[in-house]
Amino acid sequence: MFIKIKKIKNIAHKRLAIFYGISIMHRVKIIKEFLKVDKITIKVSKLHTEISTDSGIIKAVDDVSFHIEKGKVFGLIGESGSGKTMTAMSILRLVPPPGRIVMGEIDFEGKNLLNLTKKEMESIRGNRIGMIFQEPMTALNPVIRIGEQIGETIAFHGNLSRSDVKKRVLELLRQVGFEDPEKRYIQYPHQLSGGQRQRILIAMAISCNPSLLIADEPTTALDVATESQILYLLKELILGYGMSMLFITHNLNIMRRFGDYIGIMYAGRLLEEAAVDDFFNEPLHPYSRGLMESIFAFKGHEKRLKAIPGFVPRLSDLPEGCKFNPRCMYAMPRCRKDEPEVKKIGNERWVRCYLYQN
Ligand SMILES: Nc1ncnc2c1ncn2[C@@H]1O[C@H](COP(=O)(O)OP(=O)(O)OP(=O)(O)O)[C@@H](O)[C@H]1O
Ligand code: SF4
Ligand SMILES: [Mg+2]
Repeated sequence: MFIKIKKIKNIAHKRLAIFYGISIMHRVKIIKEFLKVDKITIKVSKLHTEISTDSGIIKAVDDVSFHIEKGKVFGLIGESGSGKTMTAMSILRLVPPPGRIVMGEIDFEGKNLLNLTKKEMESIRGNRIGMIFQEPMTALNPVIRIGEQIGETIAFHGNLSRSDVKKRVLELLRQVGFEDPEKRYIQYPHQLSGGQRQRILIAMAISCNPSLLIADEPTTALDVATESQILYLLKELILGYGMSMLFITHNLNIMRRFGDYIGIMYAGRLLEEAAVDDFFNEPLHPYSRGLMESIFAFKGHEKRLKAIPGFVPRLSDLPEGCKFNPRCMYAMPRCRKDEPEVKKIGNERWVRCYLYQN
């Protein structure tokens, strides 16, 4: 039956009529697009963050792009100084001066975070995006009781009554594994162990049900057993709440157990992005292969562990061309002249290397 769309008054009905009036292929495309948009929590595109130093401007984050799907963990791995924290700080718009974001787009819940006002950003930080940092002691105020500190974030972002805030704090303390929340509520940070303090920070980070959690080396200061407990707790929370997570670590072993996708950072750039299983099955970028050979012996390779030759370059003194070329056994003349772009080379896999380009 032919529908006279112009005559339909109700907007929802009009949209439905238009939708059913188009070809099936077109409809499938629209649905796919809709599902795709809905699946992605955050999309970082071509992010550039610079810092003014005495030796000139350094590019701490250079052309970084990645996205994180709902309920997934994206692990950012790299040696010290590679730009992991700067990437996280850029997403949160907390880059300390003299650093500044110079270019890029950060799509989060339908908004480009880089276009938001300071006030709009404050309402997202700690609310829609939760943060967990490396050192639990410095992140907590030593003279304020635990319960009040968690309650402050909840009160700042919501308008619950005092008693409802307290109820929510006790519930959060229970969720992060404290069997005696009333007792913890009135304690001070110094009365807790490192692992317990980290649980408090996790409670603060999830207090407003964020859709994204950013954790910057959250277990580095902890012993191995406590580290496992914290990782287990984080995984449970992600699965339970359908949150996404940006997880920063030096540790490939942790990523293998904990992550869904991995991004390898080097000198401010992402050199490889892949699903964790694909990456550990076959790392592609020569730096990724070097990292893996220095930690594990992997499929088809000799069993002796090797170190990557040379050193991580200073950001103020980077080589021409591919930034990894002085340490790369596959370097070609072209690698010393021009820097390769990141290219998609398979399903959910990106590599910045001429070995994978024509
Ligand atoms: N305030 C600053 N002034 C000058 N340079 C800075 C400043 N903060 C960071 N940098 C530089 O920016 C680069 C990226 O730093 P970032 O903290 O992101 O590294 P990272 O990968 O998190 O390292 P780590 O694993 O040690 O935490 C580094 O080379 C660092 O020296
Ligand atoms: S672009 Fe060239 S130098 Fe860089 S990693 Fe690839 S092969 Fe090595
Ligand atoms: Mg860091």
